[in-house]
Amino acid sequence: MRIAGRSEVLRDATGALTTGRSVMLYGPSGIGKSTIVDALAGHIAGTGVLVLRTVPAEVEAGLPYVVLVDLFAEVLPRTRGLASHLREALEVALLRAPGSSRPRDGLTVRIAVLELLRRLASETPVCLVIDDAQWVDEASAEVLSFAVRRLSGTDVTVLVAERVADNEPAAGRFCPSPMDSLVVEPLSYSGIAALLAEQDFGPLPRTAISRILEASGGNPLFAVELGRALAKRGGSLAQHEPLPVPDKLRALLSERLAGLDVATRQSLLLASAMARPSISLLARCHALPEDGLDAAERAQIIQVAADGGLSFRHPLLRELVYADATAGQRRAAHTSLMSTVDEPVERIRHLALGS
Ligand SMILES: Nc1ncnc2c1ncn2[C@@H]1O[C@H](COP(=O)(O)OP(=O)(O)O)[C@@H](O)[C@H]1O
Ligand SMILES: [Mg+2]
Repeated sequence: MRIAGRSEVLRDATGALTTGRSVMLYGPSGIGKSTIVDALAGHIAGTGVLVLRTVPAEVEAGLPYVVLVDLFAEVLPRTRGLASHLREALEVALLRAPGSSRPRDGLTVRIAVLELLRRLASETPVCLVIDDAQWVDEASAEVLSFAVRRLSGTDVTVLVAERVADNEPAAGRFCPSPMDSLVVEPLSYSGIAALLAEQDFGPLPRTAISRILEASGGNPLFAVELGRALAKRGGSLAQHEPLPVPDKLRALLSERLAGLDVATRQSLLLASAMARPSISLLARCHALPEDGLDAAERAQIIQVAADGGLSFRHPLLRELVYADATAGQRRAAHTSLMSTVDEPVERIRHLALGS
């Protein structure tokens, strides 16, 4: 698979890693972090750096030291010069030797990992690659953050990727300084177009690509799934026709929509049909639930700005709200908006879609 639209972040990250700086990549699920990590890890391994990798899984995040096992179990036996009590502590922690009291002694394990990394790096540059850092088990996390704080100035770099939603990334704690923090941005039109062109479902018209770009918010995972669903339906799309939202994506987002009451759903449908949704416009349409839209805000579907402007947390949520309504409900929403909005062009659009 060719990587679309990522030359800038690849260049920045490669530049950092090859000059001894660590890199933290972060962004939402599906934005393309693992794709970038894989490419970078392959590249640096090709330059003679010893790459030690882990991709922790959510289901294993409760198992102590599983990330350390991933990273070090293979290199430990062939590391020379490690003091025997440290080697032994690590072997027990990494389940390679029977031990009576796991976890043996936290401090010894920390020092052992630090020493191991120093030893390895004295022979060849080392890069630890940690994808999905949000799922590093706590025992490994403590050891790694202890070690990396003491590794500045050695030939150890860390490449880490963390999934974030609205929170700040925390994986900087796994990186020795200096570290570059790089956000994985949404793909642009050309990136999404290139990505879609690579897929096995055949070419899509420009207008469809634009709609997919908009609905996906530039998220490659969403874009590919939207493209596939559309291609299955023939690939073309009338101007205001809802995009088909495939089950796979629906499942990712519909959890947030489940549990909303009828009045809130109705209100969100109107918002999804508006060019510039706002609380005041919903009120003028008599579509603001009595208790407001707190439930939808709490469920991370929308956010309301101080000026009453309202936006969906992800364009796909807007798409899903609109697509999930019946054709009759959509028409009714446009009819209501037609007689309420002031902006003439938008009014004409609602007039057309309401009839
Ligand atoms: N730049 C890209 N070019 C081509 N395909 C991509 C690109 N970025 C992501 N993808 C595809 O999109 C999907 C999600 O990407 P992934 O790297 O797994 O995201 P993340 O790790 O951020 O959740 C994968 O199927 C991947 O192959
Ligand atoms: Mg990933």
